[in-house]
Amino acid sequence: MAKEQKISPISTTIQTTNAKVRLWIVIIAVVVFILLAVIFFLLLGVESIGQLLLLISATAIAFMSITAVAVTLISNAGAQVEEQTLAFFDEELSVLRASEKQGKALQEMASVLRGTLSFERVVNEALTIYRQVMTEAGAPSRGFHGVVFLFRGKNLYPIASRQLLDVDKQRRTPGKAGLLADAFSRAETAVSYAPKKDPELSQYVAFKHSKLIVVIPLRAGFQIFGAMVLGVGKEVKLTDKQMSFFDAIADQTVIALQNAQLFERLEAEKQRLIDADADARKELARDLHDGPTQTIAAIAMRINFISSLITRDLDMAKIELKKVEELAKGTAKEIRGMLFSLRPLVLETQGLAAAIETVMKRIKETDGLNMRLVGGKYGELLQDSAQTVVFAIVEEALGNARKHSKAKLIEVRFTREENLFVTRIQDNGVGFDVQEVNRDYSSRGSLGMINLRERAERIDGSIKIDSKIGKGTIVTLVVPLSSQGR
Ligand SMILES: Nc1ncnc2c1ncn2[C@@H]1O[C@H](COP(=O)(O)OP(=O)(O)OP(=O)(O)O)[C@@H](O)[C@H]1O
Ligand SMILES: [Mg+2]
Repeated sequence: MAKEQKISPISTTIQTTNAKVRLWIVIIAVVVFILLAVIFFLLLGVESIGQLLLLISATAIAFMSITAVAVTLISNAGAQVEEQTLAFFDEELSVLRASEKQGKALQEMASVLRGTLSFERVVNEALTIYRQVMTEAGAPSRGFHGVVFLFRGKNLYPIASRQLLDVDKQRRTPGKAGLLADAFSRAETAVSYAPKKDPELSQYVAFKHSKLIVVIPLRAGFQIFGAMVLGVGKEVKLTDKQMSFFDAIADQTVIALQNAQLFERLEAEKQRLIDADADARKELARDLHDGPTQTIAAIAMRINFISSLITRDLDMAKIELKKVEELAKGTAKEIRGMLFSLRPLVLETQGLAAAIETVMKRIKETDGLNMRLVGGKYGELLQDSAQTVVFAIVEEALGNARKHSKAKLIEVRFTREENLFVTRIQDNGVGFDVQEVNRDYSSRGSLGMINLRERAERIDGSIKIDSKIGKGTIVTLVVPLSSQGR
């Protein structure tokens, strides 16, 4: 029963065919025997028992001779067919085995890709697989050289290699001529059996002595990252399958490269967020130290003074108390302002224009400065996240004007210029030397201007600062509306 289940469809077909062949042989044998008997009957005739015996013997002998000849011929042909079939199956089997091996190699590479974020590991795995394929193609593994080149700026740099001399590792090449250029321009794998004649690759000791070099470009769409270059010491022929396998490995490598780049960018962004967080904390600590902490200390001292006054001079104590009340009110306002900067609720509920008006009102109240917002409605062109960024920029620029400019009038103006959202923060104050301030940023503690630029970049915008001593300052922020989905 178990045996029957194991019979494959192919062996069932072979069995049926055998039974049919046997039946045909029997039919043909019977027909031949009858034909022979008829021929001998016509030739010899049957008039006596002796002639009948002769006819039977002659027919039998002729039949046996024909059968012997036929069997010999058939067995010879059978042996030939068997040989050819075996050779065919052998060939098919080795192709299947090679495909299976390649499939496994790709699978292994994919699992390396999943298991690691290290681009180097993936690249090294790729070089190992390339060497295996070259060895299978008949190249000696000793003379194998493999290099993974990546573009950095205008030149190709080796970032991983197999059997490469140090002099080759130090070399840079532009990839503008020979096989490299050929592979890059056609964006496909290129092969050369004359590496000595290659203007760029022949500069490498490894490839100069190779008999065959293969350049597999590392690309995604139209973007070329670099190339894998392989060299072997024998002129082996590569099949189409092997060539497309090379491409598949290169594709996996490019995925790893893109992942690594994304990871790097993510890390940089993470670091930037950490730095921004640390800066915000520093700023808050400094503002608390310079503002409320000082005033509260002053209030405490005054209260101390008042308590000594109460018994001596009640009227004076009352005047001092009034002063303390003013100080406390001012500090409360200051803290409210800080809270507003940290989380401007008006911005979330009523939008950019309302939030800027609130800041202006606060500054007007504390510093008595004249301020106005023009074209506030254009703020609605921006997405919420961009409004938050623009608010922070305007707030810093207003803060600067308030602290440094001694201006009589500060104006914030929103406009739409074609596909751009433009914000201008202008004061008519003392102005400053922008270059001078930019020059010695590293030696100063302030980050205001740097923050302006970084914030603008976050929404694909840019900042320009125009200022002349005695002529006031204009800070211009430009944000492309295309990045706002408009
Ligand atoms: N509107 C302005 N008018 C006059 N000078 C200005 C104006 N804006 C900036 N400055 C000058 O540029 C310098 C740098 O400004 P920045 O905002 O980077 O630092 P800060 O305001 O001094 O400190 P922080 O912003 O970190 O609190 C200021 O110290 C000031 O001298
Ligand atoms: Mg500032």
